[in-house]
Amino acid sequence: MMAFDYESLIASIPDYPEPGVVFKDITPLLADPEGFNALVNDLADRFSDKGVTKVVGAEARGFMVGAPVAFKLGAGFVPARKPGKLPREVRSQEYALEYGTNSLEMHVDALVPGDKVLLIDDLAATGGTAIAQVKLVEAAGAEVVGMGFLLELAFLDPRGVISQATDAEIHSLVTIM
Ligand code: PRP
Ligand code: MG
Repeated sequence: MMAFDYESLIASIPDYPEPGVVFKDITPLLADPEGFNALVNDLADRFSDKGVTKVVGAEARGFMVGAPVAFKLGAGFVPARKPGKLPREVRSQEYALEYGTNSLEMHVDALVPGDKVLLIDDLAATGGTAIAQVKLVEAAGAEVVGMGFLLELAFLDPRGVISQATDAEIHSLVTIM
């Protein structure tokens, strides 16, 4: 079967949200029935033999891609949210942004030892968001068994950065050199 042409449905917006950054807008892909279907199936199929029990996705775009992948795999979905959004006890993990830091939070009981976790996000850029999630998963005693992205900005080397934190398989549908 021909690979889906994801790039035709991803818009590149120069100088957004700030000068020098080219923003990758995935909303045309999400809105396209065939494209959205291919995205979810391609990511889920790649990890279908890993015994995934939970998919973790980071607010906000990690929810849009991660939740349907979890459904397809018959796994649960666990949100990693921006600070102050989860109502019960959380673990927090800071990560670096281009300027300053942010953090992600996960309910302390969302994962348990023995959970096999697939991390899903739309984009790997610096890898900071992914590593924060790896740390949250491991703090819960669970294991990251894979990581799937729609887009990998290889020129920022997220794969190299993430590989220092985990041996889990990384799969990206589109790699931008
Ligand atoms: C974006 C994107 C990834 C992250 C990747 O999230 O959705 O989660 O950046 O960047 P990194 O590899 O350098 O960490 P962002 O928090 O900007 O916005 P969102 O709320 O729209 O997902
Ligand atoms: Mg995000």
